[in-house]
Formats: sequence, C-alpha cells, structure tokens
Amino acid sequence: MPARHRNIVPGFPHLLHGGDWNPDQWLDRPEVIEQDHQLMSEAGVNALSVGIFAWAALEPEEGRYEFAWLDAILDRLAKDGRKAILATPSGSKPAWMSLKYPEVRRMHNGVREPHHTRHNHCYTAPVYRAKVAAINRALAERYARHPALGAWHLSNEYGGDCQCPLCWDAFRAWLQRRHGSLAELNRAWYTAFWGHTFSAWAEVNALDRTMHAMTLDWRRFVSDQTADFIRAEAAPLRRLTPQIPLTTNFMGTYPGLDYHRLAQELDFISWDAYPDWHPAGGDDLDTAAHTGFNHDLMRGCGGGKPWVLMESTPSSVNWKKLSRPKQPGMHRAASLQAVGHGSEGVLYFQWRKGRGCSEKFHGAVVDHDGRSDHRVFREVAALGATLGRLGAAVGAPVVAQAAVLYDWDVAWAIDEGQMQRNCDKDYIATAMDHHRPLWRRGIAVDVVSQRADLARYRLVVAPMALLLHPGVAERLESFVRAGGVLVATYLTGQVDHNDQCFLGGFPGPLRALFGVRAPEMDTPPDHVVQTLAPTAAGTALGLSGSYPTRHFDELLVAEDAEVLATYAHEWYAGTPAVTRRTVGAGEAWYIGARGDRRLADDVVGGIAARLGLERALDLPLPEGVAAQARGTGADRLVFVENFAGAPRTLALGPGWRDAESGAPLAELALARYDARVLARA
Ligand code: GAL
Repeated sequence: MPARHRNIVPGFPHLLHGGDWNPDQWLDRPEVIEQDHQLMSEAGVNALSVGIFAWAALEPEEGRYEFAWLDAILDRLAKDGRKAILATPSGSKPAWMSLKYPEVRRMHNGVREPHHTRHNHCYTAPVYRAKVAAINRALAERYARHPALGAWHLSNEYGGDCQCPLCWDAFRAWLQRRHGSLAELNRAWYTAFWGHTFSAWAEVNALDRTMHAMTLDWRRFVSDQTADFIRAEAAPLRRLTPQIPLTTNFMGTYPGLDYHRLAQELDFISWDAYPDWHPAGGDDLDTAAHTGFNHDLMRGCGGGKPWVLMESTPSSVNWKKLSRPKQPGMHRAASLQAVGHGSEGVLYFQWRKGRGCSEKFHGAVVDHDGRSDHRVFREVAALGATLGRLGAAVGAPVVAQAAVLYDWDVAWAIDEGQMQRNCDKDYIATAMDHHRPLWRRGIAVDVVSQRADLARYRLVVAPMALLLHPGVAERLESFVRAGGVLVATYLTGQVDHNDQCFLGGFPGPLRALFGVRAPEMDTPPDHVVQTLAPTAAGTALGLSGSYPTRHFDELLVAEDAEVLATYAHEWYAGTPAVTRRTVGAGEAWYIGARGDRRLADDVVGGIAARLGLERALDLPLPEGVAAQARGTGADRLVFVENFAGAPRTLALGPGWRDAESGAPLAELALARYDARVLARA
C-alpha cells in the first residue's frame, strides 16, 4: 500500500464536492443555469457530473450533433475552477434510435420493450455499440483538451439483462469459450439430472432456474457482456483521452452484476449510496454499520484504492415507501463517514430538482425555489467548506489488516440453491454482521472476493462461503499456516464453481483445514428455541453465557478441532457447534450456527483484540460512535461520527488536534450526529 495514492482527477488535489447536474433540462431557461453557476460557488462545489442523460440533446437527429450548449457549460465550469465528470450518454437512448433500430431495445420472453424509462439498452446489439462508440468518440474529440474535463462517467448504473436473439447467440459463444465442448458443458451443468442433456448448442436457448449451473453461468455471462460493452464504450475515450480516468457508478451489493468483474475495466470505483437514515423501527447505527460495509466493499472492488461517492442525497429520496429528510448534522456525519472509508469526495444526486417527470420530488441541493437560505443548502455548503479544509485526506490510504470475503458467485449460488431453508438465507446481512464487530471497534476492514490476495491480512472472515472457486481452499490453508486467523460459518464449502456439491463431506476441500465435518443441518423455524453453550475451551477464548441461534444449525463432527460451543437443545444437544483448530502459525475457526450479533462480536471482536489489530483510535469507542483512519504515521487522519442519536464524549488524551480548525483536542464532545476529523498534534 503506497503512503499516498495518486489524485483521482489528475492535477486536482482536492476532495470532490458536487453532483449530478442536468443543464440539458434547462436549455430554454438560461437564467436558471446562470443561477446554478452562482449557487455552486456558494455551496463550495468543484465537480459536476454532466450529460448523463443528454443523448437526445447532444444528437437530436441521427448523426447531427449539438455541442454548443455543452461547450458553454464546460467553458464556464473551467472558468470557475470546477471539473466536469463528463458522462457518456448510453444510459438513456434517444427515441429516434429506438424506432429506427429496434434491436437496441431489450427483450424478455420474446417481447421487445417499448421505448421507455432508461438503463434498458441491449448491450450486445452491434448497432447500439456503434452508436455509443460514435457519440463517445465525438465527445472525446471535442473535449480531449478541455480544462474542465476531470474524469469520464461511463453511462449510468449498468444493470439488468437482455434475452434477445443476439444475446442468446453471444451466450452460446461465451459457453463454447468457457466449456470448450458440449460434452464438457453437460458435465459442468450436471444435465443428466431430469434428462436435460444437450445434443446441439442450438438447444441451449432458454433459462432454466432448476439448472443452477446454467443460471450461474448466465449471470456470469451478463457480467462479462456488460464488461465487454464497457470496454467498447471506453475504447474511443482511452484512445483519445488516455490521461483522463474513467469510472461508472456502482450500487453496492446490487445483485445483477459481479462488480469484481466490472471493476477490471475501470480506473477508479465510484458508487451511489442511499442509506436508510432514520429508518422506521430501526436505528441509525444499523444504517451506519451497513453503509460502512458497502463503502468497504466498493473500496475492495478497486483493490483498496480511494473511490468516489458519486451519488448521495442531500436530504431525502422519492423512491422509497417513506423517506424522511436527513436530520440536522446527519448529512455531515454520513458524508465524513464516506470520506473516512476512502471516498475522495461527496457528490449528490442531484444538484437541482427538475420540474417534471419521475424525479421532480427527489432531494437536491437546490430546490424548486432556487434559494440558498435553506437548511439543506446550508448544510451542503458547510460540508463544502469542511471538504475544502481536508486536502490532507486526498490520496490517503485506508490500511486494513482484516478482510471479510464477499462474492457475487456466492450470493447467486445461495440465492438460487434450492436448499433446506429457502427463506431468511440473508447472505448480505450475514456478511454485514461479521463486518460489524470490526467496524464498531474502528478497525479497518477490506471487503474483498475469494480471489483477492489475502497475504496482507491477519484476520479473514468468510461468512457463508457456500461456493468455493478453484484454488481458494489451498490459498486459505496457506493463509492460515502462515499465521492468519480464518473464521468461516455454516454453509461453507458445499459447492464448486459449477454449483456441484463437493463429494466427501462438507465443508468440502476445507474439511481438513477446519478439522470438522458437517453431515447434517437443522433449519429450525422461528418458534424453536436453540442456544449455544460455550465449553471450557470456548470460555477461555472469550465466549460467555448462552447464545441464541436461528435459521441454520449445522451438526458438526469435530474430527480434529477443539470444540468451543455445543448446542443446548433439541435432539442434538451436546453436538459441537463452534470449533477452532490451530494449524501452523494460525487458526481456523468454524461457526456452525447462525448466532446472534453477540456471538459474532465475541468471536470476531475477541480475535481482533487478541491479534491487536490496529484501531483508528486507541480507546474503546462509546456505543454509536464510529471511527475510521486514513493515511499513515504523522499524516494519519481519523474520522469520528456519532450515530448514537444522543451526545457522546471521547477522552482522547494528548496528541490530537481538530484537523479543520487546528485546535488541540484532549476530549471530544460530540453532539447527536456530530462528526469531526482528528489529526496528530
Ligand atoms: C440513482 C440514479 C440517478 C437517480 C437516483 C435517484 O440510482 O443513478 O440517476 O435516479 O438514483 O435516487
């Protein structure tokens, strides 16, 4: 990990502040655009994503480009010292194109979509790729040397699939490359089941969700085909503007695409975060913990490099059943949390509310009245000033000694796998529950895939790793032998990359490493009481009391492992549930049951304490306070947010100052939703 990463926007050493701006909706109202420029200065805005849905304004007729309006916008941004994150407009195609070239529209169940909404182009159709390449080339040629051009924003939130004949042809070609022969495909897909053996490639022509390997391959193909589309979109930009980095906006754990695959096509990761602050019946701490996980996952997609919060709302959204405004302070706390997790700035959807259509009531920095004396505008402007004072954060790395594994293939295999329990499988929530013990202690965590290099970590937690890619078991074993601590849970190592069960007992190729076998599993309904009782060995390692379990109880056979807890109820009372095996210089823990949050906290938090993993602050954080560190040594900045809903105080001791004001700080008094950045005195 370098001491400092390169600036995301070359030659622009500032945290980014701004957001999606759609001047193309206001071309007949120049006074509104002028007002926007002025308000941007008031709000401390330095980066705008422009042109995301502007294809119809840029190419109103096939081949006739209208760039004058965008010239004026970019010229003015440059004059005011701001950067454009210039979008390619493929997320929404013009109506003339849908009519003239029907194959640009997606198809499902043999029916082509009408021209409507957005994000629904066919990513295979050669004509769409050609049209996208042409407009992207025109944009790159025109603005290659424009001083406002800071980065490329490819399309918008790629997602979904298309099942038109062109996509099916592409899928079959992809399968031929992947499996080589039909005989291999039949083997990989286990088609002998229900007599589904294929005798010609043309027979592979409909998705069958009972063939788990087929649906898995289809989802992989959709990710690969989207990545291929991205590569085609990017080609003219890479050729004409090699100095300009490109990204697209991800959506956290969005299930439709393997972001680890897409990330390979991008220069930096950005994502759109819309956490459920002030949730009905929940608390902000849960939301903050979940958001921290998502930030870490997105940073992990980029190999740990800084990333950008490309969209967030300054107040509320308009697409949830209920969306309350962020309460005073929450905007600052949520935004600094993102920067603490590695974001190089804070951008919004949206700069200004549009007048019509489906997002006219979505939160924005500038409301329909165009005023800057609103609470929301003032909080945004105050944050702009704060970000302006935090130049030291730019490029500062997040250094993590712990990792949580999260894989889209695992998510898909769990989701599709018809198993003993087909409700409450909750892979994402389980991954978050095992990330939280570290997050709440201020310990940096990378959320990475099974394929990531694990050598840099001291603790790896692999929740519900149902599917194991080839070579992963061996790599986990080397990690442990070299001194790492590995924690796995129920459902580990049941299927291979073709979604076929491992023979010889679960957890498959990890059986020897954990020294356990899981020949049976109970999946009790909610009214059944089951608890775990720690053994003497478990108590010595910090387990205590009794832990309720739910949903998944594996009945372990400890072949070569210490038993740390056993079941206390049902016919399998006394059966091992949590085990540990010391292997080489490391340890392999197996948690066979879905315990409560306290169990994850005692196991993962206990290990972290024993290993002495580095914390953002060397003191216990009060409940509800989160802390993240960026940078190393004397350059280290610590971001502290209070999500408790009540004031909190931290006794920092000597050696700290407020990074914004420079004032020394021995005690940090945080009001509700307060957030501060600390630097070494
Ligand atoms: C995002 C999208 C934006 C806007 C926003 C509303 O998912 O990229 O264009 O629709 O949601 O919250």
